[in-house]
Amino acid sequence: MTVRDSFHSRIGFVLAAAGSAIGLGNIWGFPTNAANNGGGAFLFVYLIVTLLLALPALYAEIYLGNQAQKNPVSALGEACAEKMPKFGRLAGKIGLSGAIMMLSFYTIVAGWMLSHALSAFVALLGFNDISQWLATDSTVRNVVFTPVFIILGAAIVHQGVHKGIEKWSARLMPILLMMLIGLIVYILQQDGATEGLKQYLIPDFNQVTDPKLIISAMGQAFFSLSIGVGGMMVYGSYMQKDKDIGKLVLSIGALDTFIAFLAGLLIIPALYVAQHAGQEVFVGNQLIGEGQLIFQILPALFSTMGAVGLLVATGFFSLLSIAALTSTISSTEVPVAYLVEEKKMTRAKATWLVSGVVLIASMTLVAFFDQLFGLVIQVLTTMLQPLSCLFYFIVVGWVWKRGNKLRDKALQGEQRWLGIWGNYLRFVCPILLTVVFINVAF
Ligand code: PHE
Repeated sequence: MTVRDSFHSRIGFVLAAAGSAIGLGNIWGFPTNAANNGGGAFLFVYLIVTLLLALPALYAEIYLGNQAQKNPVSALGEACAEKMPKFGRLAGKIGLSGAIMMLSFYTIVAGWMLSHALSAFVALLGFNDISQWLATDSTVRNVVFTPVFIILGAAIVHQGVHKGIEKWSARLMPILLMMLIGLIVYILQQDGATEGLKQYLIPDFNQVTDPKLIISAMGQAFFSLSIGVGGMMVYGSYMQKDKDIGKLVLSIGALDTFIAFLAGLLIIPALYVAQHAGQEVFVGNQLIGEGQLIFQILPALFSTMGAVGLLVATGFFSLLSIAALTSTISSTEVPVAYLVEEKKMTRAKATWLVSGVVLIASMTLVAFFDQLFGLVIQVLTTMLQPLSCLFYFIVVGWVWKRGNKLRDKALQGEQRWLGIWGNYLRFVCPILLTVVFINVAF
């Protein structure tokens, strides 16, 4: 029997999981949501929701994978073995299709980032026509860049867990952090930035009870921490059993939230700098189009920096591409692990097969963009992800008995804190999530 590939260190696991969590959701989704929902008020609610619900869900997902040391379909099947094995496996497969759904739109957006990075780079070299084409939205551009991005992700997953995922996450993540900080330092020196800073850091407490804001913050937190499609479960399964998951979850959550916070610190002041320079940014209190935020306002701002601006633009969009890449590989790993372990496929074959399916799915979205793009995002983030998390809570708290140490501790009242934690997952989380879910759905 071949030994299962794994992360070689705890820090390797944390960086890979943080790499999965930190992506377009942090750098694009979070600031967009914050700008549309009152800035500071959104930040405040986001932090609370992350602590109360998203981190416990992340814990449950990683715990399930870590105990099973298997792919999500087998892991959920085993956890439900006594009561409903078929249903457990089915839930695993639904999560797996969620990962494909996520990839189908994510690789398109990631392709835009890649083409904008290239656009700034070729402008630097003086090829202005090509640069213009690369910066302009078109179906042809999607048909070129989405596959390029899918192939990049596949090339990393193909190399395996330690050599591919762990090494690349550890290399790429620190670069991302440095670039972000550099850009913030620049932005904060521009006129108008202080107003943005105030808007972002001082919450208006009249807004924090707005249901629309709470729901946006909740969806954002789930998407941002990559919960509910099995990506974190499969990474948890590649970590040695019985590590202190609580601490690891806190580190991942802290890193993810910190990067989202930094992205807000860059983008919200940037919006106000743009406004100060005479650009129209908001209509009422809503942003003018979400695409606008990244692809027009920021490049316009970069261009005020002169020639350096093109370098900064290249850096910024490369940063987004890198962040998207480490998120893409975690979703790809979900079906790949399943095919390798259960269908006895080679990793190479599984990787290319999954990438082929993702390519077909994403090209379908490109072909029917107006009808499908927003719909897929909505179904995934407001239905599939919250429902999967609810299922994890119920499995960890109620269904899975034999071998479920957390449940034992909760019932026996052993080790006080673990017991309290177990009961929090059993009772509070499912109720809280159901309440929010009902609000989202109806
Ligand atoms: N968390 C990633 C982001 O913020 C997206 C993601 C969702 C990745 C689900 C994997 C699974 O961009």
